[in-house]
Amino acid sequence: MFLVTGATGGIGRRVVRLLREQHQQVRTFVRLSSRYSELEHRGAEIFIGDLRCERDIQKACRGVRYIISTHGSDGDALALDYRANIELIDQAKSNGVEYFVFISVLGADRGYEDAPVFKAKREVERYLQASGLNYTILRPAGLASNLLVLAERFRETGMYLLIGDPKNRTSIVSTDDLAKIAVDSVSVIGARNQILSVGGPEILTREDIPRIFGRIFNKEPTIINPPLFLIDGFRGLLGIVNPQAQKSLGTFRTLLANEFFCKTEEINNLEAIFAFHLEPLESFLRRYLAV
Ligand SMILES: NC(=O)c1ccc[n+]([C@@H]2O[C@H](COP(=O)([O-])OP(=O)(O)OC[C@H]3O[C@@H](n4cnc5c(N)ncnc54)[C@H](OP(=O)(O)O)[C@@H]3O)[C@@H](O)[C@H]2O)c1
Repeated sequence: MFLVTGATGGIGRRVVRLLREQHQQVRTFVRLSSRYSELEHRGAEIFIGDLRCERDIQKACRGVRYIISTHGSDGDALALDYRANIELIDQAKSNGVEYFVFISVLGADRGYEDAPVFKAKREVERYLQASGLNYTILRPAGLASNLLVLAERFRETGMYLLIGDPKNRTSIVSTDDLAKIAVDSVSVIGARNQILSVGGPEILTREDIPRIFGRIFNKEPTIINPPLFLIDGFRGLLGIVNPQAQKSLGTFRTLLANEFFCKTEEINNLEAIFAFHLEPLESFLRRYLAV
């Protein structure tokens, strides 16, 4: 039995789809408010709970052999990125789980002090490595599925908002490829007890993204490019009324201010371990946007 957290999210729903195509037994950890009917249709077991609640995690882990942790932070990195994953790892140990796959983030080891999600992910990575469990830690760059909404907006308006340096590099990964890598990690020997950076096959600059949209929709992009200090000004003001929200924006700022791309050797290594070719961003977008 696999336990998948974040099963209604961008990565999680694809992980469940692949596991069910392989006729694996899957328990999906979802909230009552989650949109989980697709998971039910695919024959997954639905476990309703909240990852902020330790007892729910304890119950969900009973009888499980593999855990794939893909949930997001929902604005609270401490409770969800950190505490929920630590509890999942503790429960994995108590229940004799054979394998733990953890979705971290590219750059988790760079020591970004202002980014609660990055800090939480790094601590969980360390805890998992010291746990004695078999594991794979995947550190993805940006997910291609996140760009679909922006692409739809571009289709209507021809506009693209790009905050910060347009020349910053990124390796957007196909969310389908990442889900496949997460699922295959439990059985592919080269992935055992590894931390792997996961990106797409090409190193893009951030301004390449509206150019790709432009090609797909045959439209010249209008790029709106405010400088990063506008975000800093906004954060300063937000801090006066909502210090918690100001803190969470630190992760967003870190994502905007830095480069997140995989080196060619890392991509070659990934393709060799999992024996398939990663999909370029344009191909992923064309498949989903049906153009
Ligand atoms: N997005 C990126 O570009 C990116 C890049 C690198 C790494 N990552 C990492 O990849 C992982 C997945 O990202 P994603 O974009 O696929 O996430 P997502 O689409 O935002 O999905 C988040 C999932 O977490 C679930 N969740 C949130 N709070 C929960 C709670 N209290 N109890 C139970 N479930 C809860 C959500 O359930 P509901 O459906 O109920 O909301 C949803 O299924 C995250 O760990 C993220 O840090 C993402």
